[in-house]
Amino acid sequence: MSFDKKTIRDIDLRGKTVLVRAMLNVPIENGRIDDTMRLKAALPTLKYLLEQDTAIILLSHHSREGQSLAPVAPLLSELLGKPIKFVADCAGEAAGAAAASIKPGEILMLENLRFDPGEEANDDAFARRLASYGQVYVNDDFTTCHRSHASLVGIPKYLPAVAGLALEKEVTTITDALENPKRPLVAVAGGAKISTKVPILSFLLQKVDVLFIGGAMANTFLAAGGLPIGKSLNEPDQIEAAKQIMASAASQGKTLLLPVDAVVTTDVEMAIDIRTIAVQDVGEADIIADIGPASAGQLDTAIRPEGTVIWNGPVGIAEHPAFAHGTEAVAEKIISSGAYSVIGGGDTADYVNNAGLGSRFGFVSTGGGASLELMSGNKLPGIEALQGKDGSMVQ
Ligand code: 3PG
Repeated sequence: MSFDKKTIRDIDLRGKTVLVRAMLNVPIENGRIDDTMRLKAALPTLKYLLEQDTAIILLSHHSREGQSLAPVAPLLSELLGKPIKFVADCAGEAAGAAAASIKPGEILMLENLRFDPGEEANDDAFARRLASYGQVYVNDDFTTCHRSHASLVGIPKYLPAVAGLALEKEVTTITDALENPKRPLVAVAGGAKISTKVPILSFLLQKVDVLFIGGAMANTFLAAGGLPIGKSLNEPDQIEAAKQIMASAASQGKTLLLPVDAVVTTDVEMAIDIRTIAVQDVGEADIIADIGPASAGQLDTAIRPEGTVIWNGPVGIAEHPAFAHGTEAVAEKIISSGAYSVIGGGDTADYVNNAGLGSRFGFVSTGGGASLELMSGNKLPGIEALQGKDGSMVQ
């Protein structure tokens, strides 16, 4: 059993006022929200809570400093098909008054909790004030579970605290893919920095049959293997870490796949002098900006239709169309393989969703940092704060 916390299905909620820590941290540009993945993922819990005749108070944050959650309320209301009242206050008099007057069947959204310094400081008085607004606490925001903030770890000290359905699904899906996968399990890891990824690479290596490394992170591995990388982004202080990961793969009998060809340029911004060459042929002035087709081609045999793929991180500078082909090829190979696939959140989720491919994968995580932590084998404080299925609670 991969999820050992109580969920909204495990407790009696009927008629109660429920505080829901929701994932409303969505990109807002000039008041417009185009990416609705997180809001759609929030709907099953809200629908279930409405069926239980609860009053719902939505708590969330926005990462952008000073960004109001006001634009989120009408869109979530439209997706849910129920009115949502927004109050431009998170824990002051107006919030308290709105919370005190809420009735079953109604939904109230409070302002960005980070408007109050108590949220990020995990201030006890702030947590207690929020807790006083409801009778039960539901955490349905997987994306923020790696933060020890008041709305995640403070409120559960004062209210029965359970998981929402989106949180349960995230944790169950990612954990099952790692602990109980259909084999072979292939992990594709991309992104720029090996220094931030050492824990996830080491943990993944224990779980997978094949680890494919792409992105600028791969440059450090290529350099560690004595290959020329020209002017490519790399982390010389991580060469030892890369060597250790390669040695660990060998000693565990795991297959570690690195790029065998690369798309290089002499200027990423100008995208000039672009060539696809073998990694042995990278010149002194070259910058590796993407993996080449032969590199991606290694996945053709590694990924099996009966197996599983976990993908975290673009394998090239995918925001630049000239250097997105490797990432496109990885996406295409995962989709066409027929293997069950789990896509990490953040840049990888943004990429597949922007390419209109989200629905073609088995599961796309809503969480960036949180999915990275979970895929690194770490405990997330926002999850640990919830009641265990057996009634226990780790604080
Ligand atoms: C996310 O978008 O990754 C989460 O909502 C957490 O946001 P944060 O990085 O601003 O804490």
